[in-house]
Amino acid sequence: MPVPGHWGGLRPTMPGLLLLFMVALLSSWAQLLTEANSWWSLAMNPVQRPEMFIIGAQPVCSQLPGLSPGQRKLCQLYQEHMVYIAEGAKTGIRECQHQFRHRRWNCSTVNNTSVFGRVMQIGSRETAFTYAVSAAGVVNAISRACREGELSTCGCSRTARPKDLPRDWLWGGCGDNVEYGYRFAKEFVDAREREKNYAKGSEEQGRVLMNLQNNEAGRRAVYKMADVACKCHGVSGSCSLKTCWLQLAEFRKVGDQLKEKYDSAAAMRVTRKGKLELVNSRFNPPTPEDLVYVDPSPDYCLRNETTGSLGTQGRLCNKTSEGMDGCELMCCGRGYDQFKSIQVERCHCRFHWCCFVRCKKCTEVVDQYICK
Ligand SMILES: *[C@@H]1O[C@H](CO)[C@@H](O)[C@H](O)[C@H]1NC(C)=O
Ligand SMILES: *[C@@H]1O[C@H](CO)[C@@H](O)[C@H](O)[C@H]1NC(C)=O
Ligand SMILES: *[C@@H]1O[C@H](CO)[C@@H](O)[C@H](O)[C@H]1NC(C)=O
Ligand SMILES: *[C@@H]1O[C@H](CO)[C@@H](O)[C@H](O)[C@H]1NC(C)=O
Ligand SMILES: *[C@@H]1O[C@H](CO)[C@@H](O)[C@H](O)[C@H]1NC(C)=O
Repeated sequence: MPVPGHWGGLRPTMPGLLLLFMVALLSSWAQLLTEANSWWSLAMNPVQRPEMFIIGAQPVCSQLPGLSPGQRKLCQLYQEHMVYIAEGAKTGIRECQHQFRHRRWNCSTVNNTSVFGRVMQIGSRETAFTYAVSAAGVVNAISRACREGELSTCGCSRTARPKDLPRDWLWGGCGDNVEYGYRFAKEFVDAREREKNYAKGSEEQGRVLMNLQNNEAGRRAVYKMADVACKCHGVSGSCSLKTCWLQLAEFRKVGDQLKEKYDSAAAMRVTRKGKLELVNSRFNPPTPEDLVYVDPSPDYCLRNETTGSLGTQGRLCNKTSEGMDGCELMCCGRGYDQFKSIQVERCHCRFHWCCFVRCKKCTEVVDQYICK
């Protein structure tokens, strides 16, 4: 699906917007927040189910950790959305950990309100990915929640029938509302960036522009990968009739796509005029679907409080791989220890009439390697 060019933003009640605007103004000077303390921390803290906090709204939103003032306002206006934002953040973090499981930086979260610890204070490629994937998680969760009728402000997708859909197929199943998900995520996720105060051309501005670009790339990945899904009807499954609707892609595919964008992310710097420009002008400028970063990554080899790197000591590595998961690269040349571990697997499975499968447990001793 093409991404619409001119979203007007969400339209909550006018007083709400005005309030939001004023709060944003008032609080912007107080907002040189560390990135570490972010709305992602919603993922770590159970958000109560909506039924439980409709009355007495304010306290709930003020108790949620990591929200910027503008996000707190949105929380009050759209309380029932918060569960899904938290769910989206969690999905994003889980996907990040999957995509980076074989790398030195493995998207480890700190069990603390400061979800990613200090790592996010550096405007690195890894930070870029994290912003994109968590914004994507929110689009995903909200779009789905609309379709499932969980939110009072949205319902099924109202996307027009695709032109290339065969004429006798019906368009009108209840689709994931990715338009709404995109718009809401833009409003909510970007809020904290829009509230920040910075001097034109400053490092802080570079970081804000970077975050906004990566948030957008994440949202667009979900939006663009949503596709038509259909179901057959007709006499005894003859499929003479089809009903179709818009459906989100599996989030794994979104993660794969964003990982590719991570690999090709563009190094940028902020100009005096307050725009991001390529560090190396021979490359193509990034499109809104691309990830960008402004700081080089630390090597994540050693534990470093300043960069928030956990280091790779104690990480499992693969002795025969030449990739990032190989012991050479993973352990940064420090060497590794070998140990034997016993793996238990199900084996010799047999089907019994009727109807269950019985397996034996087989144990196998395997060599494993961990970084020194
Ligand atoms: C965080 O740690 C505390 C105590 O160590 C534990 O009780 C809690 O379940 C943990 N939370 C998460 C989300 O892992
Ligand atoms: C969480 O991390 C912050 C900053 O690193 C620290 O100040 C705080 O004490 C930590 N909280 C807990 C519960 O560990
Ligand atoms: C931690 O990283 C910073 C920034 O890269 C570096 O200046 C510092 O020397 C490192 N500290 C340690 C103990 O390695
Ligand atoms: C990620 O790395 C950290 C430290 O390098 C380690 O403690 C943690 O277990 C790793 N997590 C996973 C899921 O491998
Ligand atoms: C280790 O890496 C090799 C080569 O890439 C691969 O074939 C093998 O499956 C890996 N082993 C494990 C345990 O992941």
